[in-house]
Amino acid sequence: MKSRKNFVLVIFGASGSLAKHKIFPAIYKMIKREYEAKQYMVLGFARTHKTDEEFREEFRESLDLSETDNIQGVLKNIFYCSGDYSNKQDYKKLKKIIDGYEKNHFGANTKSVRCFYLAIPPVVFEQVVENIGLSGLKEDRAHIENRLIIEKPFGRDLVTAKALETVLMNYFKESEVYRIDHYLGKETVQNLLIFRFVNKFIEPLFNSRYISNVQITSAESVGVENRAGYFDHAGIVRDMIQPHVLQMLSLIAMERPTSFSAKAIKDEKVKVLNLIRPVSMNNDTINIVRAQYTSGVIRGHKVRSYREEEGIGVNSQTETYAALKFYIDNDRWFGIPFFVRAGKRMSKKSTVINIQFKDLPALQTFSKCTPIPSNILTIKIQPEESIFIKMFTKKSGTDFDIKPSQLTFFQSCDDCLDAYSRLINDALIGDNTLFIRYDEIDIAWQIVDPILLSFEKEKLPRLDYYASGSDGPARADIMLREAGYSWIDY
Ligand code: BG6
Repeated sequence: MKSRKNFVLVIFGASGSLAKHKIFPAIYKMIKREYEAKQYMVLGFARTHKTDEEFREEFRESLDLSETDNIQGVLKNIFYCSGDYSNKQDYKKLKKIIDGYEKNHFGANTKSVRCFYLAIPPVVFEQVVENIGLSGLKEDRAHIENRLIIEKPFGRDLVTAKALETVLMNYFKESEVYRIDHYLGKETVQNLLIFRFVNKFIEPLFNSRYISNVQITSAESVGVENRAGYFDHAGIVRDMIQPHVLQMLSLIAMERPTSFSAKAIKDEKVKVLNLIRPVSMNNDTINIVRAQYTSGVIRGHKVRSYREEEGIGVNSQTETYAALKFYIDNDRWFGIPFFVRAGKRMSKKSTVINIQFKDLPALQTFSKCTPIPSNILTIKIQPEESIFIKMFTKKSGTDFDIKPSQLTFFQSCDDCLDAYSRLINDALIGDNTLFIRYDEIDIAWQIVDPILLSFEKEKLPRLDYYASGSDGPARADIMLREAGYSWIDY
């Protein structure tokens, strides 16, 4: 068990929306739960000028506090420093603040952690990493452990991801780098491994003999929000499929790791991602659908189209929805389609993996109410968390009638740390199991790069449209119908 140490956590990009919406609340929860007995400093860094007091107020406002929360103890350890990401002197200023704090609060030679969290626009990732390295902010004294948490997007294609990785490795060791994919911090995503590999009756069924298809849906009802500048240059394939969806797919499809060690799990994830067949762009069958939302109604509210959103061009071709059909070329999954889709402004927020079992035709003679629907294993990641199997049991009575039943294996844990709190805590204690190794990112870009190139250069497949509040474009339904399937509820 790795132990908790005193820490300094520097948040680059402390004025941004990620910091306010996700990182501050996560830090607060984590400190309350794990670090109240420790010494720590949270130091925001960004371009905007503000005082410590103003920053503390922003931090406090980002929290969903109950009346009994006593936040003063935490706030006194929160500080702010304004500066320019490109100005080396500003890093020296940061270093001085941190050195002074460590000296006064941590005690000489007590083991502690310096953690740099990059919640900044990706265009400045490299510059900030270099400046952290060159300014001596990354400390080389033996009792201080350095960590770098880096947010996605890790590059915008394979070439830029490799370039970023080279810069990281110039200044940090692999064991110091924590590439975040917050989906791995979600409780049910972690449960995938345990559920699959520890239950003896599940794993033997996970193959092409019993499974007919796998569906991964990551739907959101929100639109582009205030992130037009980033999203319009990214699109949903870069934003959701390359990182989160391929991570979920690798966990569902990977072979049993030799242990639950970080290395063994990552090795197997990379192996299975390497076996994904390149998505064919031929026009005979639909393998990819890309689409953009138009105006519509979500939970009774009218919402505007993507092109009417602030900061989005009237002719934008960026996809806000994508659905893809993947195949994995190994014995276990040969011929079994993995349908994945991600979209903004869909009818609801839901992330779910549905694994549909093959029908057994002989069974159909059993029941009056033919056809008997398929068994489906559902792994619901959010908003509720649960794992259940749609099964069938006998209706009570004299006939052999069936009724749908549900076998539920797992339900959400109210007391668990949320994804971000869990991941920041793991980084501070030095556990990188739930972070991404560079080769996972590399192979994920190899999978999506040809698709993005086709979108951007060939304009193929054509851009479809779907009404906000719907379940996506009609062509995504056709893609499944052509292959003999249909989307399962998400
Ligand atoms: C982020 C994407 O990685 O994940 C966002 O950049 C998306 O566009 C978000 O909204 C979804 O995360 P969650 O945890 O709310 O499903």
